[in-house]
Amino acid sequence: MRALITAGGRGTRLRPLTHTSNKHLIPIANKPMIHYALEAVATAGIRDVGIVLNPDTGEEIRQALGDGAAWGLAITYVMQEAPLGLAHVIRAAEPFLRREPFVFFLGDNVVVGGIRQFVERFQARGEHGHLVLAQVRDPQRFGVAEVRGGQVVRVVEKPACPASNFAVTGIYVYDTPIFEAVHAIQPSARGELEISDAHQYLIDHGFRVGFSEITGWWKDTGKPEDLLEANRFVLDQVLDGTGPEIRGAVDAESDVAGKVVVEAGAKVIGSQIRGPAIVGAEAVVERSYIGPFTSLGRRCVIRNSELEYSILFEDTQILDVDVRIERSLLGREVVIRRGNSRPKTQKFILGDQSTIELC
Ligand code: TTP
Repeated sequence: MRALITAGGRGTRLRPLTHTSNKHLIPIANKPMIHYALEAVATAGIRDVGIVLNPDTGEEIRQALGDGAAWGLAITYVMQEAPLGLAHVIRAAEPFLRREPFVFFLGDNVVVGGIRQFVERFQARGEHGHLVLAQVRDPQRFGVAEVRGGQVVRVVEKPACPASNFAVTGIYVYDTPIFEAVHAIQPSARGELEISDAHQYLIDHGFRVGFSEITGWWKDTGKPEDLLEANRFVLDQVLDGTGPEIRGAVDAESDVAGKVVVEAGAKVIGSQIRGPAIVGAEAVVERSYIGPFTSLGRRCVIRNSELEYSILFEDTQILDVDVRIERSLLGREVVIRRGNSRPKTQKFILGDQSTIELC
């Protein structure tokens, strides 16, 4: 069995971060998001993986993932000429998929607990399609599945009045009828070939579509708050519960408690860190407070400041800021610092579609 992982799309909801970077490389617990999909697929025993790219943001992914050997995978890059929908992704990948059963995994989904069980269930039951479902509080944001007698009987994309609270996650297993489905359906009102329409086609044409309810934890990281939540969960789950893991230097004045990783070359000076948190390699935290669920990328500098529940990409600095920063996502080489000039004013240099909330 092969796997197909998406790394294209527009990423509009994560702007401005996605103006300069492919969203699948956004770090969750200091690891590019798409690594979680690669690890899940590798752990399920799959070796041949297609990664779907769009022309504008694809090169960065190729550079970052290479041939997949780091995960024991053989990666083939598949070009989708434009983000024309998830069913269109499957069409674009047909030569790679060779009309055989496959796992379809959206690269912006983070799942804890693996996917092997879903593949095994699909195979044991001899289904034509298998959807991984998750109970959510806000089903109207998702494709929603109606289930009866162990089968999916209807799928509706972002319904105003959801028939259940089962969201269709971004993990699917298919047998060959999906190829017929993605060719038969027509573009939706937003001009995309929708995967929900392909699923409904399978159901309407008598193909068996089964499901699993997700057992571990799952997040579709489409929006900024989803990234923060995924970061929180992964830091909490993945970091070792036995106490701080210090590979860098922490001075005697500092107090580092809970699940905290201080990476090699990082320095913590006269500061308090409350885990779960990661201080990336060669980062500096000086006379500062780092609160729970915070990831600092490589070479970040936090000085005389307080930070909590945030993700900082590489080379970002927070210097002498006297309000606590939280629930923030800062890209690469961002600087937030206190200015000393008169008159005392706020000064911003922000790229397109940035957001600032002042207190
Ligand atoms: P979405 O989150 O639905 O879309 P998006 O990534 O373009 O983001 P936004 O809605 O904020 O603009 O995409 C789900 C996954 O599928 C994600 O990994 C991107 C990928 N994708 C493609 O590779 N090709 C496509 O045609 C589409 C629609 C999505």
